Amino acid sequence: MALTEEIQKRRTFAIISHPDAGKTTLTEKFLLFAGAIQSAGAVKSNKIKKTTVSDFMEIERQRGISVASAVMSFEYNNLKINLLDTPGHKDFAEDTYRTLTAVDSVILVVDGVKGVEEQTEKLMNVCRMRSTPVIVFINKLDREGGYPVDLLDELEKKLDISVCPLSWPISRGSDFKGVYSLHRKKLMLFQPNKADEDAGIEIPSLSDPLLDTYVGGHNAAKLREDAQLIEGVYGSFNKEEYLEGIQAPVFFGSALNNFGVRELLDTFTEIAPPPKARQADTREVQPQEEKFSGFVFKIHANLDLRHRDRIAFFRVCSGMFERNKFYKHVRLDTDLRFNNPASFMGQKKEVIDEAFPGDVIGLYDRGNFKIGDTLTEGEKMNYQGIPSFSPEVFRELINTSSKAKQLEKGISQLTDEGVAQLFLMDQGRRKIVGTVGLLQFDVILYRLANEYGADCRFEQLNIHKACWVTSKDPKKLEEFCRDMADRIANDKNGNPVFFSESEWMLNYHIKKYDSIDFHFTSEFKK
Ligand code: G4P
Repeated sequence: MALTEEIQKRRTFAIISHPDAGKTTLTEKFLLFAGAIQSAGAVKSNKIKKTTVSDFMEIERQRGISVASAVMSFEYNNLKINLLDTPGHKDFAEDTYRTLTAVDSVILVVDGVKGVEEQTEKLMNVCRMRSTPVIVFINKLDREGGYPVDLLDELEKKLDISVCPLSWPISRGSDFKGVYSLHRKKLMLFQPNKADEDAGIEIPSLSDPLLDTYVGGHNAAKLREDAQLIEGVYGSFNKEEYLEGIQAPVFFGSALNNFGVRELLDTFTEIAPPPKARQADTREVQPQEEKFSGFVFKIHANLDLRHRDRIAFFRVCSGMFERNKFYKHVRLDTDLRFNNPASFMGQKKEVIDEAFPGDVIGLYDRGNFKIGDTLTEGEKMNYQGIPSFSPEVFRELINTSSKAKQLEKGISQLTDEGVAQLFLMDQGRRKIVGTVGLLQFDVILYRLANEYGADCRFEQLNIHKACWVTSKDPKKLEEFCRDMADRIANDKNGNPVFFSESEWMLNYHIKKYDSIDFHFTSEFKK
């Protein structure tokens, strides 16, 4: 098959949600429909069940699941679909943010009872940064929830995106009748716990009395009224706006009951974009370019402690990847080849000979890769858009044993993996670790002791936010760093980072030092 055809066949996406909205359930239903798994329960939840983790087996369990389900590929409607898994716990959100850099679109699951939750907003901010096309699935319609129009209102306000319902629920909770697909002009009747969905009943016009027969006069009248309102307020679906990340089509259903899921998957395959052009530092790269290139967006330490190797998850962006061929590792300026690159089908890992744009492959690595690294056929370019995000919790790492070397190596490798971010103060003598949640500190202590034999502890720090600082005037930056010496650290790439103790102080400094630019992600134009 020609390269262009391979590209057109691929859809690479992630399902994202606030924990408990139904991501795992929806993932499982997709895989069941596609025949990639045979029974429910095959997709393990990657949620950390206990938040006060003294139970490290739970962390290990989660790590095992994350490797196994990091990417699930399946065929559906003649497409090759790559579904990238994202962690279920908010303390691992940075991993999700990075995974979002490797997809071409997302499906956002919202709990119809709880509405838009905190994590939903944060994830949506990351999608907006890259104008990622979003489809919204409002789940749990079998439970009593809010009025759908209020939910759409909340989506628009909190997620800052315009929405367009492509299906509409007929009543909800215990009285839930089903949904009418405004997109396909079909009525889908709700039957709890059915293994598959019916094709639906064609009702081309809502004035058709058939509607009253199926859902009752009262519900039919309400649907007609709602449909009119929707048409007036939300207009019609505009594919271009969806592809630009401006408009999000919305579906209603119940993942647990297999309801609305096929409609969602079918529409996804119809409208979701194939791999797109991507921005590198020197130019934009088209997927159909003959020469291969791509980047690492996730690194996973191997669970087998006897082999300190890791799996780097790599997104192919252009050309064709081939096993055993030498490629340029741009940052290290060296050539590498891979003799057992892995692909993932359902839950099975397989060695592959080739991969195409949109595909995610697992490359076994002995410490060569950092998140964001680019491989090419010789060209010196680096893919953009794989930033570190400003962490939210900070601790100082204190060595409590004589094994300083192991600690150094351990923390360096764990932060390459993206478990946390490392900031150095006082010429590297002080190590400040920043994460998006407390759980990672337990993970780090556990893994440093277990994998590197290094004992240490964390000390609390009074830091509210870390911002990367730059200035058009190098002298001003130098001055600022000197004035703020006890609040300045360097990230792993040597970029200066400013620690602020409160939101108020941060705003005060932003105002006071107007020649300094404060950045909340590590990727900025210097
Ligand atoms: P997550 O991955 O987004 O965290 O959510 P997950 O799919 O694990 O779903 C969270 C809970 O919500 C699960 O119940 C799941 O069964 C339930 N759920 C998912 N979709 C629906 C739906 O359409 N309707 C209803 N009523 N519930 C739904 P749980 O009790 O936490 O777990 P489990 O014991 O059922 O696995």
